[in-house]
Amino acid sequence: MTDVRNFIGLAERPSLDNIAVTQGPIPVPGPGEVLLRIRATSLNYHDYLVVAGFIPQPAGRIPMSDGAGEIAALGAGVEGWRVGDRVMGAFFPDWVDGPPTDANNGAISGETADGFAADHVVVPAYSLCAMPTGWSFAEAATLPCAGLTAWRALQVEGRLEAGATVLLPGSGGLSVFMLQIAKAIGIRTVMISSSDDKLARLKELGADHGINYRTVPDWAPAVRDLTGGRGVDLALDIGGQSTFARSVAACRMGGHLLVVGSTSNGAPELPLRDVVMRHIRIGGMAVGSVAHLADLARFVEAHAIRPVIDRDFPLAELGAAFRHQLSGAHMGKITVSL
Ligand SMILES: NC(=O)c1ccc[n+]([C@@H]2O[C@H](COP(=O)([O-])OP(=O)(O)OC[C@H]3O[C@@H](n4cnc5c(N)ncnc54)[C@H](OP(=O)(O)O)[C@@H]3O)[C@@H](O)[C@H]2O)c1
Repeated sequence: MTDVRNFIGLAERPSLDNIAVTQGPIPVPGPGEVLLRIRATSLNYHDYLVVAGFIPQPAGRIPMSDGAGEIAALGAGVEGWRVGDRVMGAFFPDWVDGPPTDANNGAISGETADGFAADHVVVPAYSLCAMPTGWSFAEAATLPCAGLTAWRALQVEGRLEAGATVLLPGSGGLSVFMLQIAKAIGIRTVMISSSDDKLARLKELGADHGINYRTVPDWAPAVRDLTGGRGVDLALDIGGQSTFARSVAACRMGGHLLVVGSTSNGAPELPLRDVVMRHIRIGGMAVGSVAHLADLARFVEAHAIRPVIDRDFPLAELGAAFRHQLSGAHMGKITVSL
């Protein structure tokens, strides 16, 4: 092993045009820490907001919240892990278990703490989770953010059981994972996408219904029709201003709207009467804990779920990978191998 690592650090004014691989010394794990040889990361919209400078971070910060690789060295006092173990890092490295707190949500990999756009990183041993057996590093790198968010939305926050209905927006990393997990549980899915071709592929993956939100811009009544006029038990909202009121309208009386982000600019207006008079429960959520990730790893193994990977890029082409994501041409996850 050389003592030099390759990594990407944010520029003073980050943008997709100034992402470059650089070299520096391989860090040494301290007590309770582990040195990882990172083999893959994957793209999330949150990572784009960081690398493009929309979530400002100090120059030099290593972006990317997803990471999978092998343990290369153990710091003093680390128990339960061995050199060579295949592991995943965590979006919130200090959120090991229990509910979210200000303290355990303070460190965010690739945002407020260094992330995984580096071939060697040091992380706390308690933040690690074993990869699902037989998975490639690229596959495992899709779980810590998108996979985990999908799992927590359906199982922990949504507490949905077989026979429930869910509305999933788009065909990106998060929604495709939610489709796969929903299908394994027996939850019925209504998916909206900008593309008929993608809707056809989503149906091949098990989606029960698809609506093109370009050709049917007022899609909430169509969602209700597809659910016998009732509306869905849970709607996921990622469109912000462009989708929020419609997502509320697509929920059943007493339904649940989970807000996980926004791919459109601007905060949505609250459709007050609809929310109040139809008893809609609105909640926000971000990713999950290391314990949730371990639950998810067991679930995907038990149900033989494998991630849908659209395309893999080398680290030096991270900017091109984000441009591919922004183009909307992808379906499922985009990964980066190191
Ligand atoms: N809070 C959390 O824990 C968490 C975790 C992961 C992701 N997120 C959020 O979830 C969103 C998706 O993330 P991702 O990583 O899956 O991104 P992604 O892979 O880039 O997918 C985004 C997809 O959203 C769909 N979309 C865009 N505008 C839409 C609209 N107006 N209505 C419906 N669908 C729309 C598009 O699907 P089509 O091409 O099919 O139209 C697009 O492919 C982002 O806002 C992200 O920040 C939140």
